[in-house]
This record gives sequence, C-alpha cells and structure tokens, in this order.
Amino acid sequence: MKTINSISNMTKTTVRWRQKGLSVALVPTMGYFHEGHLALMRMARSRADRVVVSLFVNPSQFGPEEDLDRYPRDLERDTELAKGQGVDCLFSPSAGEMYLPGFQTWIDVEGLSQGLCGASRPGHFRGVATVVAKLFNIVRPDIAVFGQKDFQQLQIIHRMVKDLNMPIDIMAHPIVREPDGLAMSSRNYYLSIEERKSALSLSQALRLGEKMVADGIRSGQDIIQAVRDHILSHTGTKIDYIFLGDPEELEECQEVHGKALLALAVWVGRTRLIDNTLLEG
Ligand code: PAJ
Repeated sequence: MKTINSISNMTKTTVRWRQKGLSVALVPTMGYFHEGHLALMRMARSRADRVVVSLFVNPSQFGPEEDLDRYPRDLERDTELAKGQGVDCLFSPSAGEMYLPGFQTWIDVEGLSQGLCGASRPGHFRGVATVVAKLFNIVRPDIAVFGQKDFQQLQIIHRMVKDLNMPIDIMAHPIVREPDGLAMSSRNYYLSIEERKSALSLSQALRLGEKMVADGIRSGQDIIQAVRDHILSHTGTKIDYIFLGDPEELEECQEVHGKALLALAVWVGRTRLIDNTLLEG
C-alpha cells in the first residue's frame, strides 16, 4: 500500500490506473479507524480494481467551539489497518495544501443541510460537501463509499453528485455497531466507562421506535416522546435533536406511513453522538 501526501501525486496515480482501464473506488475518512471504516473499505475492495482511502481531518467542517484540535489521530495504526483491508493507497494531504491561501469556493447543498445536524452545526455540511467535491476532483473515482451512520451527510453527497452531474456512483454501507448496539464512531473514544453506558441509550431508543412502529403506532409525537424519555432516563445525556421524517428530503412528518427516518443527536457529557434507523410504517 502506498501513502500519498501530495495532491498532484494522487491525481497522477489514479489517472495512470484509469488509463490502464482499472476502476477506482474512494473511501473518504477522517481517520482513527474502527470496524465501520474497515467495512467501507471492504465494500470498496469488492467493487473496484483499486481502492483509495483518504484520511483528512477537514478543518472546514468543524465549528470554532468544536473538537478539531482534540479529534483522535493515529496515522501509524490507521496505515496498518488500511493495509489489512487490501487498500491500494492511503491519501493523507495537509490542510495547507487542501486550503491554499485565498481559498473561497464553497459547495452548499442548501435545503438538505438546514435541519438535523445542520441546525446545531452551522457551516458543517458546507465544509463536508466542499471537501468531498475536492477529493472527488483529486482522486476522480468511479465509485465512492459512505456510511449510513451519517445519514444526512450521505443524502447531501447524493444530492451534490446529482445536482452537479458528477460521474460517480455513491454506495451506502449500513451502520456497523458494537455487539451491544452502540454505533461505532471515532468519537466513542472520548467516552468514560459511565458515559459509555449512557451512550447505549441511543441505539436502545431507536430499537424502541422500531418496536412501536411494528406494534402499529403511527403518531410521530408519541414515538419521539418515548425516544426522548428513554434517553433522558440515562445519566449525563442531553438531547440535541430527535428527528422523524422523510428520508429523502429530510422533512419532518407527523405520522409514520411508508419509510421514515428516525435520527438522533445526543450529548453524553462533552461528546456529541449520532445514530439513526429507517422505520417502515
Ligand atoms: P468519518 O467520521 O471518519 O467517517 C468516514 C466514513 O465512515 C463516513 O462515510 C461515515 O458515515 C462512515 N462511518 C463512520 N462510522 C460508521 C459506522 N459505525 N458504520 C458505518 N459507517 C460508518 O464522515 C466523515 O468522516 C467526514 O465527514 C468525511 C466524509 C470524510 C468528510 O470530511
């Protein structure tokens, strides 16, 4: 596996592969790999001749009060883990090269970026869409793999690719969980033993929502109330949002009929965690 830091070397490498008729898959990440990231790499590996994993903790998607400085990093460990999944190239550019002085061009997927995480993290999805578009231009992949854990991010990338006619197939991987149900996240690393217990309330609350719908309950208000009560019965939790609505347009709904997204963002101590599930009413 090659590690490439320079943007021009990355583009030269994939252009050469494509000239040889090889297909290329990209898995964009911010590193500190866990099983969720590795599952995305395996999906990419099974769908293309060459796999590029980008590792870039993107400053433009963090707010001024957020965890950019303390975001966990371990390049040596990540390199070994990526190698183990048969990745061909780890692309790890510097922030200075990704955002040259005078940088001023942004991609804003307006409507889809407004609610859910966008409401409490203004500018976050503008940073995500812009860096992903840059990675697409640098790597020029045929396919790119994203996780459903960040459901809103996935929908935003789908819309950007459609709206801007980017010739890339976006593939979605289901959420990878710990055996007890906690969705894997690089931010789980921040949790103390006590917080880790409270963090379980997210996936439990989603299962509760699924059960309510399976039992025939359709009222959005009742489902959200039950989810809220379950989470708040755990110590140290604070709800950022509970969303129930249409998975495509991310608009809230009052009743569950057909497919609905139930998505959560919850503070557990100083750590903000997200999780979601698709309900079938
Ligand atoms: P990061 O949080 O490192 O996640 C990289 C990819 O892994 C994303 O597509 C995310 O949805 C996926 N992922 C994370 N945890 C997962 C889990 N438990 N199950 C399945 N997939 C999971 O998301 C980002 O980085 C950034 O915003 C990025 C897209 C790289 C742009 O900077």
